[in-house]
Amino acid sequence: MQIGQYQLPNNLFVAPMAGVTDRPFRTLCKKLGAGYAVSEMVTSRRDLWHTLKTSRRADHTGETAPIAVQIAGTDAAMMADAALYNIDNGAQIIDINMGCPAKKVCNKWAGSALMQDENLALQIVEAVVAACAPRNVPVTLKMRTGWCQAHKNAVALAQTFEQAGVQMLAVHGRTREQGYKGEAEYDTIAAVKAAVHIPVVANGDIDTPQKARQVLSLTGADAVMIGRAAQGRPWIFREIAHFMATGTHLAPPLVAEVKRLLLDHLQDHYALYGEFSGVRTARKHIGWYVKSLPQAEAFRDRMNQMEDCGHQMQAVADFFDALAVHTDRMPLARPDTLLAEAEGRERTEEMEKEEKEA
Ligand SMILES: Cc1cc2nc3c(=O)[nH]c(=O)nc-3n(C[C@H](O)[C@H](O)[C@H](O)COP(=O)(O)O)c2cc1C
Repeated sequence: MQIGQYQLPNNLFVAPMAGVTDRPFRTLCKKLGAGYAVSEMVTSRRDLWHTLKTSRRADHTGETAPIAVQIAGTDAAMMADAALYNIDNGAQIIDINMGCPAKKVCNKWAGSALMQDENLALQIVEAVVAACAPRNVPVTLKMRTGWCQAHKNAVALAQTFEQAGVQMLAVHGRTREQGYKGEAEYDTIAAVKAAVHIPVVANGDIDTPQKARQVLSLTGADAVMIGRAAQGRPWIFREIAHFMATGTHLAPPLVAEVKRLLLDHLQDHYALYGEFSGVRTARKHIGWYVKSLPQAEAFRDRMNQMEDCGHQMQAVADFFDALAVHTDRMPLARPDTLLAEAEGRERTEEMEKEEKEA
């Protein structure tokens, strides 16, 4: 799997998720078998680049190459500027967001809403490619299958974007109208793959090694991209890699290993966000790790009251030590529950928060 001049270790990608796939989480996923990770989106609004939030997103210290940054916006010149700003901050690949359903930038809908305005979408792609080409930085793009059921224009757009110089396309198998409802469909992704020569990445509802293999085979895609199923379960990438290589399932991780991984994750997280923000934003990650474990709800309630790193880390360590008394290994994942629980509110709230903050 190759993006421009970058050879990737495998074809298992972490999906960009605002508020989730920050540097600590991306680094962890890569350590646990993901071959590629894209940052949370960075706004094209110059007035927001110096906010704490955007400067944290543009900080790639210690991240494994290639460093890919997603940009979001509705104005071609601003998007080109945003690409250059991120390249100056270490981005080696620029990804254009045409996949997010709820992102409003400069009072206009960005993300997947751009799929409705094909001229503007093309202008943006051309401007970003023109800005990135002299720096030898590949441009990639993430989109949905279309605006709505009646306007599934992913195939036509994919061909246009390829001609304009996009070097890889990721496609989430839902329309913009669907948000996250219903099931992802893979026929349109297969049609996109058949219509272009650049690598295509299939995304949407992949939550088990079997599903990853099935989607690769149904779509003919070059890679799979996993979002929600990696929340609190970053080892899903090594499970998929193992299954692809051997056809057998890796045993679930040891409780002791997950304890160590989570404590390391927390330390990285606090280092990026500081204590006040770090303790609060770590709660959702901890909640995802313990979801489906015994006593998780009571633990989450207690943990949500804690306001300093020391107590939060100690509570996590105690929780996993208590679990290890009863079982060596984590329970087998319940993917159906994982995705069902992630449906609707959780994601909508996250995105609405993002939108307000921008
Ligand atoms: C909390 C959250 C934030 C997201 N943020 C972004 C984003 O910033 N950019 C983007 O292109 N897609 C974003 N997405 C969409 C995901 O990248 C992915 O396309 C979607 O979740 C479907 O994949 P999955 O079924 O594996 O989760 C987000 C999804 C979630 C759940």
